[in-house]
Amino acid sequence: MDDAKEEIRARLPIEDVVGQYVELKRVGRTLKGRSPWGVDKTPSFMVSPEKGIWHDFSSNKGGDVFSFIMEVEGISFREALEKLATQAGVELKKYGGGDKVVTERKQRMKQILELSCRFYQFCLTKSQVAKKYVEEKRGMLQGTLDTFRIGYAPNQGKALVQFLAKKGYKTAEIEAAGLLNRYGGDLFRGRMMVPFIDTNGVIGYTARILGQGEPKYLNSPETLLFNKSRFVFGLAQAKEAIRQHNFVVIVEGNMDVISSHQAGVREAVATSGTAMTDSHLKILSRMTPDVRLAYDGDEAGVKATERAIMLAGDLGVNLSVISDYHGAKDPDELIQESADLWKKAVSECRPAVEWLLEKYEENIDLTSGVGKREYSDLAVKLLRNVQDAVERKHYEKMVARKLDCDVEDLRAKKVAERAPRRLKKIDAKVEMDILKGLRESLQAILIYGKVTEVKGVELPEEEDKLAELAMIFDARYKGWELDALTQEAQGLLARYKDEVRSQEVRALNEQLAQAEDAGDEEKVEEILRQIMVLKKS
Ligand code: UTP
Ligand code: MN
Repeated sequence: MDDAKEEIRARLPIEDVVGQYVELKRVGRTLKGRSPWGVDKTPSFMVSPEKGIWHDFSSNKGGDVFSFIMEVEGISFREALEKLATQAGVELKKYGGGDKVVTERKQRMKQILELSCRFYQFCLTKSQVAKKYVEEKRGMLQGTLDTFRIGYAPNQGKALVQFLAKKGYKTAEIEAAGLLNRYGGDLFRGRMMVPFIDTNGVIGYTARILGQGEPKYLNSPETLLFNKSRFVFGLAQAKEAIRQHNFVVIVEGNMDVISSHQAGVREAVATSGTAMTDSHLKILSRMTPDVRLAYDGDEAGVKATERAIMLAGDLGVNLSVISDYHGAKDPDELIQESADLWKKAVSECRPAVEWLLEKYEENIDLTSGVGKREYSDLAVKLLRNVQDAVERKHYEKMVARKLDCDVEDLRAKKVAERAPRRLKKIDAKVEMDILKGLRESLQAILIYGKVTEVKGVELPEEEDKLAELAMIFDARYKGWELDALTQEAQGLLARYKDEVRSQEVRALNEQLAQAEDAGDEEKVEEILRQIMVLKKS
């Protein structure tokens, strides 16, 4: 894979790739432009064609041509590699055979999931109970059942497994697709099946029990195709409307998406079984800057909205909040009452910052000094995320009026408690997760796949850890041949090393930004040198 990367680098000058997104002007040995992420008025984005790297001083991002595409498109390294390979006319297949194995596996997995979806759809037409549930209890019309490909998993031990086995799929393949339980039977039984659909087709399911029972929803495990921190439920069905009307509505539940769609608000999507991540928002922000959140007004909803605001600032997203459900629990319930009320609620959304500032007020006594301090703490922290100076001033004035103080007083507070760069924590956590995931997969293969060819990886000995790795191995690699495992291990190791290096670079970029802030020219020089060295290694 390293060879493929080199080949792509050689064929695609970084300034050409970046130039598709950023207007660049030559200044000496570097090219400068405006950050595709920041709202900076002066060029703070630079590219060094000689070194093949870029750095964005407004967002502390930087790296090579691959990381640029990953960042700007919000895609994974693998996807960036594929995209640039196409542009460069480099055939990835020629490099590293591991990819061929994975591609083939994915292909079979897609077939299995597509077949399972048709199977579940067919079973729905045959089950009176299930039909009654989806039509009467959930109020779904035939068109909705078709658009969302709703189905029913029969309550028999192995109906799907047997169906797929007859079509020639191995148990290990069915398991890898996330459809098997640990006893070798169907994972989903007696449930309404709602497929997760993306550009690959069906990639998993969320499955609701008919009536009462635990768990209410059962979701597919993550697989080669399904990654929950990136998957946006309903996007496949909402894309057109989002582009057409230039806004998106993020609701909490998958079922809210479906009801909303049926009610005529086809711009609704949800994050499935997880809080909104950076990737989710990035994917959506590429389609529209107008993002409307329809979360609960409770504590969790407030936290989720704050989190979204933190993520939104860097993406140039205008966040607003849909909050008036007329007493209904969620959009789904509101829609069952009246589709028009939901439409009205969606059109009457309010800026998220404004909504939060009001929420903060609910539990604080603004007539007391302590209350004013508490409120201004929260407000200042929130407003730090508003990147546009004019917009920020608007809110600062609003808060100052409320607290009967001056904007300068608020700003003075801000200086005093200037926080570390706000996205750092989240990024660090995501980075750790990526590394951990790669490392564990690799260790699992080396230990339980009996791969001996890949060396130089530390292996754990603690029993708990080994058990966890065994689980990982079973879930992902059971039934793989030795050479496929070896290839996979080689691929994982390469990605691991790559990731470590790019994280080091990112850490340096962080320091770079701080040195910049402090105006420490010498230090800036020194850190830039270190980055160049790392890039070359
Ligand atoms: P809710 O319990 O509010 O679900 O959980 P809901 O969408 O209103 O469900 P219905 O209308 O009773 O069918 C909110 C979301 O949390 C997730 C689901 O994504 C759900 O939409 N959830 C909930 C689960 O993943 N598992 C569960 O057991 C429950
Ligand atoms: Mn509901």
